[in-house]
Amino acid sequence: MRVLVTGGAGYIGSVVVEELVRDGHEVVVLDNLGNGHPEAVAPGVPLVRADLRDRTTVEATLRERGIEAVIHMAADSLVGESVQKPGKHHDNNVGAGLSLLDAMVTCEIKRLVFSSTAAVYGEPAKQPIEEDDPTVPTNPFGETKLAFERALPWYEAAHGLRSASLRHFNAAGASERCGEMHDPETHLIPIVLQAAAGQRDRVIIFGENYPTPDGTCIRDYIHVIDLARAHVLALAGLENGSRIYNVGCGGAGYSVLQVIDAAWRVTGEGIPVKMGPRRAGDPARLVASSERIQRELGWEPTLGSLDDIVASAWKWMQSHPNGYASGHSAD
Ligand code: UFG
Repeated sequence: MRVLVTGGAGYIGSVVVEELVRDGHEVVVLDNLGNGHPEAVAPGVPLVRADLRDRTTVEATLRERGIEAVIHMAADSLVGESVQKPGKHHDNNVGAGLSLLDAMVTCEIKRLVFSSTAAVYGEPAKQPIEEDDPTVPTNPFGETKLAFERALPWYEAAHGLRSASLRHFNAAGASERCGEMHDPETHLIPIVLQAAAGQRDRVIIFGENYPTPDGTCIRDYIHVIDLARAHVLALAGLENGSRIYNVGCGGAGYSVLQVIDAAWRVTGEGIPVKMGPRRAGDPARLVASSERIQRELGWEPTLGSLDDIVASAWKWMQSHPNGYASGHSAD
């Protein structure tokens, strides 16, 4: 299939592109490079540098490249930043996203896979979280992803646009070519590994009095390649209708302290830590039930151990000591 990946120069998007190419799809990336890196785009895949609100370029790309489906990953995705800058997140994640949908309608493209987030659930009353559980976001990032998800059934009713929304839990790790690099970095695993590599003095743990066994937040870390595979399967699954899927590894999840322990085991390096205050917008615990996507699409996390995930991130960091040459962040 000919697939447009928005945000395909970003951290998760670049690995989705790799997996699509591996499966024989023809891929075009559209990215404004606000958060992405041209070097992260798989060799031979065309990169159109444009903003989603640039309807002329988006529609020309959809038409001229004969695009049959869109995987929409371009977004602002930092929980902490979303609390500080709710307008930026609404503008990019809702406003620019709707502009993309309207371009798809104009060009009669009726297949969409959307990268949503576990942040739509807020502070869930039960774990693991299932897709039909209440969605009560505790930060603008989750709120904006939910707003876009909620627009989709209306576009389907009016225009026949089918969609799969994949609620990502915490993507981590790296492929051979593509890894996580943001500037400034805010994600736990790269921060912990930077401390292990001596690139930062210490890791600040955001809150030690959460209602979890060790008092630090629990997340469901999923290898970025497993997450990317879910997008490829969801694309094929669109033939059966629109769906919402959680994508995480499930189990008990891992606390911030457990991630630091894993990084210590993997790197063999000491990791200085300091307790700090809570970060606004952080739920205590987010762990997925991915039973629906496993049952319906046959997806399974195959690279799920935390040590393996951290080891792949560490390997990428060591082979890319300065990150990507273009320097700015990949989201
Ligand atoms: N944390 C620290 N210290 C740090 C950085 C993070 O203690 O220096 C903690 C956070 O408070 C949180 C956990 O580590 O409890 C994970 O934080 P991340 O910033 O790595 O990830 P988030 O859970 O905030 O969010 C990520 C993505 C979102 C996605 C979400 C899904 O950034 O886009 O996972 O769960 F939606």
